[in-house]
Amino acid sequence: MSAEQAEKLDLSSYPVIGLGSGIYFTSHHPKLMEQAKRLGKGQQAFIFSTRGCPVVGKYHTALKQVLTEKQVTLMGEFSCRGYDCTGPYNLVNGGNKGKPNESDELRARKFIRRILPKEVKVPDIPLEKGKHVYVDAKSCIGCGTCVCSCPMNVLTIKDGKAVVIKDEDCTHCSKCADGCMQGSILIHHSKKEMIQIASKHAKRTSL
Ligand SMILES: Cc1cc2nc3c(=O)[nH]c(=O)nc-3n(C[C@H](O)[C@H](O)[C@H](O)COP(=O)(O)O)c2cc1C
Repeated sequence: MSAEQAEKLDLSSYPVIGLGSGIYFTSHHPKLMEQAKRLGKGQQAFIFSTRGCPVVGKYHTALKQVLTEKQVTLMGEFSCRGYDCTGPYNLVNGGNKGKPNESDELRARKFIRRILPKEVKVPDIPLEKGKHVYVDAKSCIGCGTCVCSCPMNVLTIKDGKAVVIKDEDCTHCSKCADGCMQGSILIHHSKKEMIQIASKHAKRTSL
C-alpha cells in the first residue's frame, strides 16, 4: 500500500496497528507520521522500517514520540535494511541489493509472533486430549519448513501438507511454529507435560 493510500485509512476502530515505512531523512514517511497522530488512547501499535544504514539508531524516535503523545501503547519495533538507491548508491545501481531477504522476513515473522496477542498468532484449532502438535491443513502450503526445522522429526509432508507423525517426541521448542510462514502450526502442552518434557530431556546426552 502506498503512503498516500495509508494516509486515508480510518484506523480509529483497530485495537492493534502496525506502522511501517522506509526511512527517509532519518525518520518514517511523513504521511505515516500524520496517520500516527490520529491514533489515540487504548490503541496499541508496533513500528517497523526498512533503512539504508546498517544500524537503526534513532530512526524510530520521532514516530515513537508521536505514539507517546497520543498515549498509544508501543508493543515493539522491528527494522531491517532495504534496497537503497540514494546518493552514492546510484553509481553502483543501489546498495543493500536483495534486501529485505528471506532471513529478514523470518526475523520479521518471529517479531510478530512475539508481540501479537496469542489469539492473533495461533491457528484456530480445537485441542484434543493426548495431542500436542496441530497443523491447520487449510492454511498449510506444504513448504516443508517445519519438517526441516524440527530437531525431533515430529512432522513430515504427506499429500502436499505437513502432518504430525511423532507427536510424543515434540519438545515444544517451537521451531516449527516460528518458522511457519502461514502460521499453520499450533503446539500445546499443559504445564505438567512441560515439566515432564524438561525432566526427560535433561537426562539425555544426545537427540
Ligand atoms: C529520499 C530518501 C531518503 C533516505 N534517507 C535515509 C536515511 O536517512 N537513513 C537510512 O538509513 N536510509 C535512508 N534512505 C534509504 C531508505 O530508507 C531505504 O532505501 C528503504 O528501504 C526505502 O524503502 P521503500 O523502498 O519502501 O521506499 C532514504 C531513501 C530515500 C529515497
